[in-house]
Amino acid sequence: MDTKLLFQDAATLNTPMLAVFAVDIAANKDADPIPVLLNTSDPIAKAAANVLASGDFKAGLGETLLLHSPSGLKAVRLLLVGLGKAKTLSSDEMRKAAGTAVRAAKPLGVRDVAIAFPEDRALSDEHVDDLPAALIARALAEGAEVGEVDYDTYRSDRKDRSVHTLTIVANEPENNVRTDMQQGFDLGLVVARAQNFTRSLVNEPGNVLTPTELGRRAAAMSKEMGLACEVHSTAKLNDLKMGAFWAVAKGSAEPPALIVMTYEPEGGAAKDAPVLGLVGKGITFDTGGISIKPAEGMEKMKYDMAGAAAMIGAMQAIAQLKPKVKVIGVVCSAENMPDGGAFKPGDVVTTMSGKTIEIVNTDAEGRLVLSDGLHYARTLGCTHLINAATLTGACVVALGMLNAGLFSNDDATCAQFESGLKTSGEKFWRLPCTDDYKDQIKSQIADMMNTGKTRYGGATNAAMLLKEFVGDTPWLHLDIAGCAWNEESKPWLPYGPSGIAVRSIIEWVRSYNA
Ligand code: BES
Ligand code: ZN
Ligand code: ZN
Repeated sequence: MDTKLLFQDAATLNTPMLAVFAVDIAANKDADPIPVLLNTSDPIAKAAANVLASGDFKAGLGETLLLHSPSGLKAVRLLLVGLGKAKTLSSDEMRKAAGTAVRAAKPLGVRDVAIAFPEDRALSDEHVDDLPAALIARALAEGAEVGEVDYDTYRSDRKDRSVHTLTIVANEPENNVRTDMQQGFDLGLVVARAQNFTRSLVNEPGNVLTPTELGRRAAAMSKEMGLACEVHSTAKLNDLKMGAFWAVAKGSAEPPALIVMTYEPEGGAAKDAPVLGLVGKGITFDTGGISIKPAEGMEKMKYDMAGAAAMIGAMQAIAQLKPKVKVIGVVCSAENMPDGGAFKPGDVVTTMSGKTIEIVNTDAEGRLVLSDGLHYARTLGCTHLINAATLTGACVVALGMLNAGLFSNDDATCAQFESGLKTSGEKFWRLPCTDDYKDQIKSQIADMMNTGKTRYGGATNAAMLLKEFVGDTPWLHLDIAGCAWNEESKPWLPYGPSGIAVRSIIEWVRSYNA
Protein backbone atom coordinates (compact mmCIF):
# COMPACT_ATOMS: atom_id res chain seq x y z
CA MET A 1 0.00 0.00 0.00
CA ASP A 2 1.19 3.47 -0.80
CA THR A 3 0.66 5.28 2.48
CA LYS A 4 1.21 9.00 2.85
CA LEU A 5 0.61 11.90 5.16
CA LEU A 6 -0.97 15.04 3.73
CA PHE A 7 -1.64 18.40 5.35
CA GLN A 8 -5.02 19.60 4.19
CA ASP A 9 -8.60 20.09 5.27
CA ALA A 10 -10.20 16.63 4.98
CA ALA A 11 -13.51 18.14 3.76
CA THR A 12 -11.81 19.36 0.58
CA LEU A 13 -10.06 16.07 -0.23
CA ASN A 14 -11.14 14.26 -3.33
CA THR A 15 -11.28 10.60 -2.32
CA PRO A 16 -13.50 7.53 -2.82
CA MET A 17 -13.68 7.10 0.95
CA LEU A 18 -12.94 9.41 3.85
CA ALA A 19 -12.83 7.86 7.31
CA VAL A 20 -13.50 10.01 10.37
CA PHE A 21 -13.11 8.74 13.92
CA ALA A 22 -15.62 9.16 16.73
CA VAL A 23 -15.59 8.51 20.47
CA ASP A 24 -18.34 7.88 22.98
CA ILE A 25 -18.26 10.56 25.68
CA ALA A 26 -21.07 9.11 27.81
CA ALA A 27 -19.83 9.30 31.39
CA ASN A 28 -20.95 5.98 32.80
CA LYS A 29 -21.29 2.64 31.17
CA ASP A 30 -25.04 2.31 31.58
CA ALA A 31 -25.80 5.68 29.97
CA ASP A 32 -26.81 5.87 26.31
CA PRO A 33 -23.76 6.37 24.10
CA ILE A 34 -22.97 9.93 23.04
CA PRO A 35 -20.91 9.67 19.86
CA VAL A 36 -18.74 12.69 19.05
CA LEU A 37 -16.50 13.14 16.01
CA LEU A 38 -12.79 13.70 16.63
CA ASN A 39 -12.85 16.36 14.02
CA THR A 40 -13.41 20.11 13.93
CA SER A 41 -14.41 20.58 10.30
CA ASP A 42 -17.90 22.10 9.94
CA PRO A 43 -18.85 20.35 6.68
CA ILE A 44 -17.89 16.96 8.15
CA ALA A 45 -19.87 17.69 11.32
CA LYS A 46 -22.89 18.65 9.19
CA ALA A 47 -22.62 15.57 6.98
CA ALA A 48 -22.58 13.29 10.04
CA ALA A 49 -25.04 15.20 12.22
CA ASN A 50 -28.22 13.28 11.41
CA VAL A 51 -26.79 9.83 11.77
CA LEU A 52 -25.02 10.75 15.00
CA ALA A 53 -28.30 12.07 16.40
CA SER A 54 -30.19 8.94 15.26
CA GLY A 55 -28.45 6.63 17.71
CA ASP A 56 -27.64 4.17 14.89
CA PHE A 57 -23.93 4.65 15.41
CA LYS A 58 -22.58 4.22 18.93
CA ALA A 59 -18.87 4.82 18.30
CA GLY A 60 -17.91 1.44 19.79
CA LEU A 61 -14.38 0.27 19.06
CA GLY A 62 -14.31 -1.29 15.60
CA GLU A 63 -17.85 -0.12 14.73
CA THR A 64 -18.33 1.49 11.32
CA LEU A 65 -21.09 3.31 9.48
CA LEU A 66 -20.97 4.24 5.82
CA LEU A 67 -22.61 7.32 4.28
CA HIS A 68 -22.78 7.91 0.54
CA SER A 69 -22.40 11.25 -1.23
CA PRO A 70 -22.00 13.26 1.96
CA SER A 71 -23.07 16.79 1.15
CA GLY A 72 -20.49 19.51 1.52
CA LEU A 73 -17.58 17.07 1.19
CA LYS A 74 -15.45 16.19 -1.82
CA ALA A 75 -15.36 12.54 -0.70
CA VAL A 76 -17.63 9.97 -2.40
CA ARG A 77 -18.17 8.12 0.88
CA LEU A 78 -17.88 9.11 4.50
CA LEU A 79 -17.01 6.27 6.87
CA LEU A 80 -17.54 6.81 10.57
CA VAL A 81 -15.23 4.65 12.66
CA GLY A 82 -15.70 4.15 16.40
CA LEU A 83 -12.89 4.32 18.93
CA GLY A 84 -14.92 3.36 22.01
CA LYS A 85 -15.08 5.32 25.24
CA ALA A 86 -13.34 8.71 25.27
CA LYS A 87 -12.18 8.10 28.83
CA THR A 88 -10.04 5.09 27.98
CA LEU A 89 -8.78 6.41 24.65
CA SER A 90 -5.14 5.60 23.88
CA SER A 91 -3.05 5.43 20.72
CA ASP A 92 -3.91 1.73 20.47
CA GLU A 93 -7.55 2.53 19.73
CA MET A 94 -6.30 4.86 16.98
CA ARG A 95 -4.22 1.99 15.58
CA LYS A 96 -7.22 -0.32 15.60
CA ALA A 97 -9.54 2.29 14.07
CA ALA A 98 -7.09 2.90 11.21
CA GLY A 99 -7.02 -0.84 10.55
CA THR A 100 -10.80 -0.95 10.74
CA ALA A 101 -11.13 1.85 8.17
CA VAL A 102 -8.88 0.10 5.68
CA ARG A 103 -10.52 -3.28 6.23
CA ALA A 104 -13.99 -1.75 5.78
CA ALA A 105 -12.95 -0.54 2.34
CA LYS A 106 -11.76 -3.94 1.13
CA PRO A 107 -15.06 -5.81 0.61
CA LEU A 108 -16.40 -2.74 -1.23
CA GLY A 109 -13.52 -2.85 -3.68
CA VAL A 110 -12.54 0.68 -2.69
CA ARG A 111 -8.87 1.08 -3.61
CA ASP A 112 -8.10 4.48 -2.17
CA VAL A 113 -8.83 5.45 1.38
CA ALA A 114 -8.27 8.62 3.37
CA ILE A 115 -8.31 8.93 7.13
CA ALA A 116 -8.89 12.30 8.77
CA PHE A 117 -6.22 12.75 11.43
CA PRO A 118 -8.14 12.62 14.72
CA GLU A 119 -8.27 16.00 16.44
CA ASP A 120 -8.60 15.73 20.18
CA ARG A 121 -9.24 19.47 20.33
CA ALA A 122 -12.74 18.54 19.15
CA LEU A 123 -13.36 17.50 22.76
CA SER A 124 -12.86 19.38 25.97
CA ASP A 125 -10.05 18.27 28.31
CA GLU A 126 -12.38 16.56 30.76
CA HIS A 127 -13.14 13.89 28.13
CA VAL A 128 -9.80 12.94 26.77
CA ASP A 129 -6.14 12.93 27.81
CA ASP A 130 -3.66 14.58 25.51
CA LEU A 131 -2.05 12.17 23.08
CA PRO A 132 1.15 13.31 21.36
CA ALA A 133 0.62 13.92 17.63
CA ALA A 134 3.67 11.82 16.74
CA LEU A 135 2.29 8.84 18.63
CA ILE A 136 -1.08 9.12 16.90
CA ALA A 137 0.52 9.46 13.46
CA ARG A 138 2.60 6.40 14.15
CA ALA A 139 -0.37 4.36 15.37
CA LEU A 140 -2.42 5.30 12.30
CA ALA A 141 0.33 4.26 9.91
CA GLU A 142 0.83 0.99 11.78
CA GLY A 143 -2.85 0.11 12.05
CA ALA A 144 -3.58 0.85 8.41
CA GLU A 145 -0.56 -1.03 7.01
CA VAL A 146 -1.05 -4.07 9.21
CA GLY A 147 -4.84 -4.16 8.71
CA GLU A 148 -4.53 -4.01 4.94
CA VAL A 149 -2.76 -7.35 4.46
CA ASP A 150 -4.81 -10.55 4.15
CA TYR A 151 -2.96 -13.84 3.94
CA ASP A 152 -5.00 -15.61 1.27
CA THR A 153 -2.12 -15.97 -1.17
CA TYR A 154 -2.65 -19.73 -1.59
CA ARG A 155 -6.29 -19.47 -2.61
CA SER A 156 -6.90 -19.58 -6.33
CA ASP A 157 -10.38 -18.11 -5.83
CA ARG A 158 -8.94 -15.11 -4.06
CA LYS A 159 -10.29 -11.76 -5.10
CA ASP A 160 -7.80 -8.98 -5.11
CA ARG A 161 -9.26 -6.60 -2.56
CA SER A 162 -6.10 -4.74 -1.80
CA VAL A 163 -6.27 -1.07 -0.94
CA HIS A 164 -3.70 0.71 -3.09
CA THR A 165 -3.35 4.08 -1.44
CA LEU A 166 -3.95 5.39 2.02
CA THR A 167 -3.81 9.08 2.77
CA ILE A 168 -3.78 10.41 6.28
CA VAL A 169 -5.07 13.99 6.10
CA ALA A 170 -4.16 16.30 8.92
CA ASN A 171 -5.56 19.80 9.17
CA GLU A 172 -2.57 21.03 11.10
CA PRO A 173 -1.33 24.61 10.76
CA GLU A 174 1.72 24.46 13.07
CA ASN A 175 4.98 23.53 11.39
CA ASN A 176 6.57 21.94 14.44
CA VAL A 177 3.52 19.73 14.99
CA ARG A 178 3.62 18.77 11.32
CA THR A 179 7.24 17.72 11.75
CA ASP A 180 6.34 15.58 14.77
CA MET A 181 3.51 13.97 12.85
CA GLN A 182 5.76 13.22 9.91
CA GLN A 183 8.39 11.62 12.12
CA GLY A 184 5.82 9.46 13.91
CA PHE A 185 4.27 8.51 10.60
CA ASP A 186 7.63 7.52 9.04
CA LEU A 187 8.49 5.44 12.10
CA GLY A 188 5.07 3.75 12.00
CA LEU A 189 5.58 2.71 8.39
CA VAL A 190 8.92 1.07 9.13
CA VAL A 191 7.52 -0.75 12.16
CA ALA A 192 4.36 -1.91 10.36
CA ARG A 193 6.28 -3.20 7.36
CA ALA A 194 8.55 -5.17 9.68
CA GLN A 195 5.50 -6.62 11.39
CA ASN A 196 4.01 -7.56 8.02
CA PHE A 197 7.25 -9.23 6.98
CA THR A 198 7.06 -11.31 10.16
CA ARG A 199 3.43 -12.17 9.45
CA SER A 200 4.25 -13.25 5.90
CA LEU A 201 6.89 -15.66 7.23
CA VAL A 202 4.58 -17.10 9.90
CA ASN A 203 1.85 -17.62 7.31
CA GLU A 204 3.99 -19.88 5.14
CA PRO A 205 3.25 -23.60 5.37
CA GLY A 206 5.93 -25.93 6.66
CA ASN A 207 6.59 -27.49 3.27
CA VAL A 208 7.46 -24.08 1.81
CA LEU A 209 9.21 -22.49 4.76
CA THR A 210 11.80 -25.06 5.81
CA PRO A 211 14.70 -23.97 8.04
CA THR A 212 16.79 -23.54 4.89
CA GLU A 213 14.15 -21.32 3.31
CA LEU A 214 13.82 -19.26 6.49
CA GLY A 215 17.59 -18.76 6.29
CA ARG A 216 17.29 -17.64 2.67
CA ARG A 217 14.59 -15.13 3.49
CA ALA A 218 16.52 -13.73 6.44
CA ALA A 219 19.61 -13.44 4.24
CA ALA A 220 17.67 -11.70 1.45
CA MET A 221 16.16 -9.22 3.90
CA SER A 222 19.58 -8.60 5.47
CA LYS A 223 21.16 -7.96 2.10
CA GLU A 224 18.46 -5.50 1.15
CA MET A 225 18.70 -3.69 4.49
CA GLY A 226 22.49 -3.69 4.80
CA LEU A 227 22.75 -6.10 7.73
CA ALA A 228 25.50 -8.69 8.02
CA CYS A 229 23.95 -12.17 7.91
CA GLU A 230 25.36 -15.67 8.20
CA VAL A 231 23.30 -18.80 7.76
CA HIS A 232 24.87 -21.97 9.11
CA SER A 233 23.70 -25.56 9.19
CA THR A 234 24.61 -29.01 10.54
CA ALA A 235 28.41 -28.64 10.38
CA LYS A 236 28.40 -25.43 12.43
CA LEU A 237 26.04 -26.90 15.03
CA ASN A 238 28.48 -29.75 15.46
CA ASP A 239 31.50 -27.37 15.56
CA LEU A 240 29.83 -25.32 18.27
CA LYS A 241 28.77 -28.51 20.09
CA MET A 242 25.14 -27.41 20.12
CA GLY A 243 23.94 -30.81 21.33
CA ALA A 244 20.46 -29.65 22.32
CA PHE A 245 19.72 -27.83 19.06
CA TRP A 246 21.09 -30.77 17.06
CA ALA A 247 19.04 -33.31 19.05
CA VAL A 248 15.87 -31.60 17.83
CA ALA A 249 17.12 -31.15 14.27
CA LYS A 250 18.43 -34.64 13.63
CA GLY A 251 15.04 -36.32 13.25
CA SER A 252 14.25 -34.39 10.09
CA ALA A 253 15.38 -34.78 6.51
CA GLU A 254 15.48 -30.97 6.40
CA PRO A 255 18.77 -29.56 7.66
CA PRO A 256 18.64 -27.00 10.49
CA ALA A 257 19.55 -23.33 10.09
CA LEU A 258 21.43 -21.20 12.57
CA ILE A 259 20.87 -17.65 11.39
CA VAL A 260 22.96 -14.77 12.74
CA MET A 261 22.07 -11.20 11.71
CA THR A 262 24.20 -8.32 12.94
CA TYR A 263 23.42 -4.63 13.10
CA GLU A 264 26.33 -2.32 13.90
CA PRO A 265 25.58 1.33 14.63
CA GLU A 266 27.34 3.81 12.37
CA GLY A 267 30.82 4.62 13.60
CA GLY A 268 30.71 1.54 15.85
CA ALA A 269 29.54 1.23 19.43
CA ALA A 270 31.51 2.35 22.49
CA LYS A 271 33.59 -0.36 24.13
CA ASP A 272 31.42 -0.97 27.16
CA ALA A 273 28.13 -0.18 25.42
CA PRO A 274 25.33 -2.75 25.61
CA VAL A 275 25.00 -5.37 22.90
CA LEU A 276 21.46 -6.65 22.51
CA GLY A 277 20.81 -10.27 21.58
CA LEU A 278 17.49 -11.18 19.92
CA VAL A 279 17.03 -14.95 19.98
CA GLY A 280 14.13 -16.68 18.22
CA LYS A 281 12.61 -20.16 18.26
CA GLY A 282 12.32 -21.20 14.63
CA ILE A 283 10.65 -24.62 14.58
CA THR A 284 9.22 -24.57 11.06
CA PHE A 285 7.00 -27.51 11.97
CA ASP A 286 6.49 -29.15 15.35
CA THR A 287 5.07 -32.67 15.17
CA GLY A 288 6.19 -33.24 18.74
CA GLY A 289 8.78 -35.75 17.50
CA ILE A 290 8.68 -39.24 19.08
CA SER A 291 6.40 -37.76 21.79
CA ILE A 292 4.12 -37.06 18.87
CA LYS A 293 1.25 -34.59 19.11
CA PRO A 294 -2.39 -35.60 18.53
CA ALA A 295 -3.51 -35.17 14.91
CA GLU A 296 -6.19 -32.65 15.81
CA GLY A 297 -4.84 -29.14 15.44
CA MET A 298 -1.35 -30.29 14.50
CA GLU A 299 -1.53 -28.27 11.27
CA LYS A 300 -1.22 -25.12 13.40
CA MET A 301 2.30 -26.08 14.36
CA LYS A 302 3.60 -24.43 11.21
CA TYR A 303 3.57 -21.25 13.28
CA ASP A 304 6.07 -22.64 15.76
CA MET A 305 8.64 -20.36 14.14
CA ALA A 306 6.78 -17.16 15.07
CA GLY A 307 9.45 -16.19 17.61
CA ALA A 308 12.13 -16.46 14.95
CA ALA A 309 10.01 -14.51 12.49
CA ALA A 310 9.50 -11.77 15.10
CA MET A 311 13.25 -11.40 15.49
CA ILE A 312 13.85 -11.34 11.74
CA GLY A 313 11.14 -8.69 11.35
CA ALA A 314 12.54 -6.66 14.22
CA MET A 315 16.01 -6.77 12.63
CA GLN A 316 14.52 -5.37 9.40
CA ALA A 317 13.14 -2.38 11.31
CA ILE A 318 16.33 -1.91 13.32
CA ALA A 319 18.38 -1.78 10.12
CA GLN A 320 16.25 1.16 8.98
CA LEU A 321 15.80 2.96 12.28
CA LYS A 322 19.53 2.85 12.99
CA PRO A 323 19.55 3.04 16.80
CA LYS A 324 22.92 3.73 18.41
CA VAL A 325 23.25 0.25 19.86
CA LYS A 326 24.63 -2.99 18.48
CA VAL A 327 22.03 -5.71 17.95
CA ILE A 328 22.59 -9.37 17.09
CA GLY A 329 19.71 -11.57 15.97
CA VAL A 330 20.15 -15.32 16.48
CA VAL A 331 17.59 -17.72 15.06
CA CYS A 332 17.60 -21.44 15.80
CA SER A 333 15.56 -23.14 13.13
CA ALA A 334 14.75 -26.83 12.74
CA GLU A 335 11.88 -29.16 12.05
CA ASN A 336 10.77 -31.39 14.95
CA MET A 337 10.07 -34.75 13.31
CA PRO A 338 9.88 -38.40 14.35
CA ASP A 339 12.06 -40.69 12.26
CA GLY A 340 14.75 -43.32 12.72
CA GLY A 341 17.29 -40.64 13.50
CA ALA A 342 15.11 -38.67 15.90
CA PHE A 343 16.02 -38.01 19.52
CA LYS A 344 14.09 -39.97 22.10
CA PRO A 345 12.68 -39.63 25.58
CA GLY A 346 15.40 -40.74 27.97
CA ASP A 347 18.23 -39.38 25.81
CA VAL A 348 20.70 -37.08 27.53
CA VAL A 349 22.05 -34.21 25.48
CA THR A 350 25.05 -32.00 26.17
CA THR A 351 24.40 -28.37 25.35
CA MET A 352 26.93 -25.91 23.95
CA SER A 353 27.37 -24.55 27.48
CA GLY A 354 28.39 -28.00 28.73
CA LYS A 355 25.27 -28.45 30.85
CA THR A 356 23.36 -31.68 30.27
CA ILE A 357 19.62 -32.13 29.75
CA GLU A 358 17.62 -35.32 30.14
CA ILE A 359 14.94 -35.52 27.48
CA VAL A 360 11.62 -36.48 28.99
CA ASN A 361 9.37 -35.28 26.19
CA THR A 362 10.58 -34.57 22.67
CA ASP A 363 7.68 -32.15 22.23
CA ALA A 364 9.41 -29.74 24.63
CA GLU A 365 11.88 -28.93 21.84
CA GLY A 366 11.72 -25.13 21.80
CA ARG A 367 13.59 -24.75 25.07
CA LEU A 368 16.27 -27.09 23.69
CA VAL A 369 17.05 -25.09 20.58
CA LEU A 370 16.87 -21.87 22.61
CA SER A 371 19.22 -23.16 25.32
CA ASP A 372 21.97 -23.34 22.72
CA GLY A 373 20.83 -20.15 20.98
CA LEU A 374 20.89 -18.10 24.18
CA HIS A 375 24.29 -19.43 25.20
CA TYR A 376 25.66 -18.79 21.73
CA ALA A 377 24.38 -15.19 21.82
CA ARG A 378 26.32 -14.66 25.03
CA THR A 379 29.51 -15.96 23.41
CA LEU A 380 28.94 -13.43 20.61
CA GLY A 381 29.16 -10.68 23.23
CA CYS A 382 25.51 -9.94 23.97
CA THR A 383 25.11 -8.12 27.28
CA HIS A 384 21.29 -8.15 27.24
CA LEU A 385 19.12 -10.93 25.88
CA ILE A 386 15.55 -11.18 24.70
CA ASN A 387 13.99 -14.30 23.24
CA ALA A 388 10.63 -14.90 21.65
CA ALA A 389 9.05 -18.31 21.28
CA THR A 390 5.76 -20.12 20.84
CA LEU A 391 7.03 -22.10 23.77
CA THR A 392 4.22 -23.65 25.80
CA GLY A 393 0.56 -24.58 25.64
CA ALA A 394 0.58 -23.90 29.37
CA CYS A 395 1.12 -20.20 28.70
CA VAL A 396 -1.99 -20.20 26.52
CA VAL A 397 -3.94 -21.92 29.31
CA ALA A 398 -2.71 -19.32 31.81
CA LEU A 399 -3.14 -16.13 29.80
CA GLY A 400 -5.44 -16.90 26.91
CA MET A 401 -4.89 -15.13 23.62
CA LEU A 402 -4.87 -11.51 24.72
CA ASN A 403 -1.69 -11.34 26.76
CA ALA A 404 1.58 -13.02 25.93
CA GLY A 405 3.84 -14.29 28.72
CA LEU A 406 6.79 -12.27 29.93
CA PHE A 407 9.56 -13.72 32.08
CA SER A 408 12.75 -12.09 33.25
CA ASN A 409 15.68 -12.51 35.61
CA ASP A 410 16.11 -8.76 35.98
CA ASP A 411 13.46 -6.32 37.23
CA ALA A 412 15.06 -3.23 35.71
CA THR A 413 15.32 -4.76 32.24
CA CYS A 414 11.77 -6.03 32.59
CA ALA A 415 10.53 -2.56 33.56
CA GLN A 416 12.37 -1.10 30.56
CA PHE A 417 10.58 -3.55 28.28
CA GLU A 418 7.22 -2.90 29.93
CA SER A 419 7.57 0.85 29.56
CA GLY A 420 7.50 0.40 25.77
CA LEU A 421 4.20 -1.47 25.80
CA LYS A 422 2.11 1.70 25.91
CA THR A 423 3.68 2.72 22.62
CA SER A 424 3.61 -0.71 21.01
CA GLY A 425 0.04 -1.42 22.09
CA GLU A 426 0.94 -5.07 22.73
CA LYS A 427 0.06 -6.88 25.93
CA PHE A 428 2.53 -8.92 27.94
CA TRP A 429 1.85 -10.27 31.41
CA ARG A 430 4.74 -11.10 33.68
CA LEU A 431 4.88 -14.61 35.11
CA PRO A 432 7.38 -15.88 37.67
CA CYS A 433 10.67 -17.66 37.07
CA THR A 434 12.25 -17.27 40.51
CA ASP A 435 14.83 -19.81 41.64
CA ASP A 436 12.40 -21.58 43.96
CA TYR A 437 10.91 -23.17 40.83
CA LYS A 438 14.24 -24.70 39.88
CA ASP A 439 13.40 -27.88 41.71
CA GLN A 440 10.70 -28.56 39.12
CA ILE A 441 13.21 -29.32 36.37
CA LYS A 442 15.70 -31.27 38.51
CA SER A 443 16.76 -34.55 36.95
CA GLN A 444 18.20 -37.64 38.64
CA ILE A 445 20.19 -38.41 35.53
CA ALA A 446 21.43 -35.07 34.18
CA ASP A 447 21.75 -31.40 35.18
CA MET A 448 18.11 -30.79 34.37
CA MET A 449 15.23 -32.28 32.44
CA ASN A 450 13.32 -30.71 29.58
CA THR A 451 9.90 -30.81 31.24
CA GLY A 452 8.60 -30.09 34.72
CA LYS A 453 7.93 -32.86 37.25
CA THR A 454 4.23 -32.13 36.83
CA ARG A 455 2.26 -30.28 34.16
CA TYR A 456 1.45 -27.50 36.62
CA GLY A 457 3.19 -24.20 35.97
CA GLY A 458 4.34 -25.44 32.57
CA ALA A 459 5.16 -22.00 31.20
CA THR A 460 7.37 -21.26 34.18
CA ASN A 461 9.06 -24.66 33.97
CA ALA A 462 10.06 -23.91 30.39
CA ALA A 463 11.31 -20.46 31.40
CA MET A 464 13.36 -22.05 34.20
CA LEU A 465 15.23 -24.16 31.68
CA LEU A 466 16.03 -21.14 29.52
CA LYS A 467 17.18 -19.27 32.61
CA GLU A 468 19.86 -21.91 33.16
CA PHE A 469 21.56 -20.73 29.99
CA VAL A 470 21.60 -16.96 30.41
CA GLY A 471 23.67 -16.79 33.61
CA ASP A 472 23.78 -13.24 34.99
CA THR A 473 22.95 -11.63 31.66
CA PRO A 474 19.76 -9.54 31.96
CA TRP A 475 17.20 -11.52 29.99
CA LEU A 476 13.60 -11.34 28.81
CA HIS A 477 11.64 -14.34 27.62
CA LEU A 478 8.46 -13.78 25.60
CA ASP A 479 6.15 -16.79 25.37
CA ILE A 480 3.93 -15.90 22.43
CA ALA A 481 2.22 -19.29 21.92
CA GLY A 482 -1.28 -17.85 22.50
CA CYS A 483 -0.91 -14.60 20.57
CA ALA A 484 1.04 -15.39 17.41
CA TRP A 485 -1.95 -16.70 15.47
CA ASN A 486 -5.17 -14.73 15.36
CA GLU A 487 -7.94 -17.36 15.54
CA GLU A 488 -10.79 -14.89 15.26
CA SER A 489 -10.71 -12.07 12.77
CA LYS A 490 -11.23 -8.61 14.22
CA PRO A 491 -12.46 -5.48 12.43
CA TRP A 492 -8.82 -4.29 12.35
CA LEU A 493 -6.96 -7.59 11.90
CA PRO A 494 -7.74 -10.64 9.78
CA TYR A 495 -7.54 -14.30 10.77
CA GLY A 496 -3.99 -15.60 10.67
CA PRO A 497 -0.52 -14.56 11.76
CA SER A 498 -0.52 -11.53 14.07
CA GLY A 499 3.11 -10.46 14.12
CA ILE A 500 2.97 -10.20 17.92
CA ALA A 501 6.11 -9.03 19.72
CA VAL A 502 7.71 -7.25 16.74
CA ARG A 503 6.58 -3.81 17.86
CA SER A 504 7.53 -4.33 21.52
CA ILE A 505 10.94 -5.74 20.66
CA ILE A 506 11.65 -2.76 18.42
CA GLU A 507 10.56 -0.40 21.20
CA TRP A 508 12.83 -2.17 23.68
CA VAL A 509 15.79 -1.88 21.31
CA ARG A 510 15.02 1.80 20.75
CA SER A 511 15.12 2.36 24.51
CA TYR A 512 18.89 1.59 24.38
CA ASN A 513 19.47 4.28 21.75
CA ALA A 514 22.29 5.96 23.70
N1 BES B 1 5.19 -25.51 20.12
C1 BES B 1 4.68 -26.05 21.32
C2 BES B 1 3.92 -25.06 22.17
C3 BES B 1 2.63 -24.49 21.59
C4 BES B 1 1.42 -24.96 22.02
C5 BES B 1 2.67 -23.45 20.70
C6 BES B 1 0.25 -24.42 21.55
C7 BES B 1 1.52 -22.91 20.21
C8 BES B 1 0.31 -23.37 20.63
C9 BES B 1 5.80 -26.62 22.18
O1 BES B 1 6.91 -27.08 21.50
C10 BES B 1 5.24 -27.76 22.95
O2 BES B 1 4.80 -28.67 22.35
N2 BES B 1 5.26 -27.66 24.27
C11 BES B 1 4.70 -28.66 25.10
C12 BES B 1 5.63 -28.85 26.27
C13 BES B 1 5.30 -30.05 27.12
C14 BES B 1 5.59 -31.32 26.38
C15 BES B 1 6.14 -30.00 28.38
C16 BES B 1 3.34 -28.18 25.58
O3 BES B 1 3.16 -26.99 25.81
O4 BES B 1 2.43 -29.01 25.67
ZN1 ZN C 1 6.76 -29.10 20.85
ZN1 ZN D 1 7.25 -26.19 19.62
